[in-house]
Amino acid sequence: MDIAVAALEAWMRDYYHKVDHDIGSSGVRDLTMAEFRAVCGFELGQLETMIFHDSESYGGPGLRSALADRWTGGDVDRMMVTHGSSEAIYLVMHLALEPGDEVVVLDPAYQQLHDIAAWRGCRVTRWRLDPDHGFAADLAELRRLAATRPRMIVVNFPHNPTGTSITAAQQRELIAIAAEAGSWLVWDHAFGELTYAADPLPIPWPAYDRSIVFGTFSKSYGLAGLRVGWCTAPPGLLARMALLRDYIALYVSPVLEFFAEQAVRHADRIVALQRDHARHNRQLLIDWVAERPELARFTPPAGGVAAFVEFPGQPDMERTCRRLAEEHKVLLVPGSCFGEAYRSYARLGFGGTAEELTAGLDRLDQVLREDAGRT
Ligand SMILES: Cc1ncc(COP(=O)(O)O)c(C=O)c1O
Repeated sequence: MDIAVAALEAWMRDYYHKVDHDIGSSGVRDLTMAEFRAVCGFELGQLETMIFHDSESYGGPGLRSALADRWTGGDVDRMMVTHGSSEAIYLVMHLALEPGDEVVVLDPAYQQLHDIAAWRGCRVTRWRLDPDHGFAADLAELRRLAATRPRMIVVNFPHNPTGTSITAAQQRELIAIAAEAGSWLVWDHAFGELTYAADPLPIPWPAYDRSIVFGTFSKSYGLAGLRVGWCTAPPGLLARMALLRDYIALYVSPVLEFFAEQAVRHADRIVALQRDHARHNRQLLIDWVAERPELARFTPPAGGVAAFVEFPGQPDMERTCRRLAEEHKVLLVPGSCFGEAYRSYARLGFGGTAEELTAGLDRLDQVLREDAGRT
């Protein structure tokens, strides 16, 4: 297999199910079925009449139209239901790109957003978020990179792993840059609904027709185990995606679609609940970092529940994270999962319970102090 190992997923495979405290994941606290039902107000008895029919290639009509109502002004022709946004990313990178195409992708970024294109023989150019400027997006730099008219520009705001975002004015500039270059604009909206200081940004459609948007229930809703996501794209591209998924997964289970439709129809309530919870934890993390400037520093995230924390005394956070997982049963994700340049960083997820976050941070503090004493 000549595709690069998905380092973050491999790390999760090793440790996610073996730890007691998760301060590494990028999603908010997952809901129990009872909590989910309480927010949405449905009964499990409603499933009694469900028939285990096949669903449809683009998603069953109930979920697809609920998603279209929320995201595309009711236009179902631009909406496809997928197995997590992961499936959408995979399909799009195969069908909107050809070997030799240039793709501009943020750096750092969720690996699937660049390595599928690289595997397909595309030329991947990285748009660097500068650590010395709090990972703020530099639109002038993007304009410079787009002068070569890349086939695709791939962004994700609020961003995994830094939580950085852009303003509405910068989003308009981004769209203008993509339009001038004639590029596909891929907008990964995984954390789009969960912001702190500013209102969530709109998706770039209908402002820009050549936009492709990925969404998911895994991050801002606390429904990671549902494995449902969605994609908006021009109908012609979705039609080709339907042909490719005939070889993979065909369609999403109607059982999952039932729950996902409940989630979309009650999305504002679910996200409001999760945002209150995440805002509280975010403050715990800000305080924790402020109390130990010699050990850790970061720019508080504008959205999502992941922060990219630099540990100046730790040249190899992978070793530290491994020790944390194996000796203290705490999950933290080493920055190296996002590239070698980030070895002294870790992705710190603050979406879990406050108790879990506090317990995980206590153990992290202990390991960092032990390591500092050793050197
Ligand atoms: C930025 C981003 N996009 C997409 C995904 C894929 O998520 P899912 O397949 O659960 O929808 C992730 C998962 O971590 C992510 O961080």
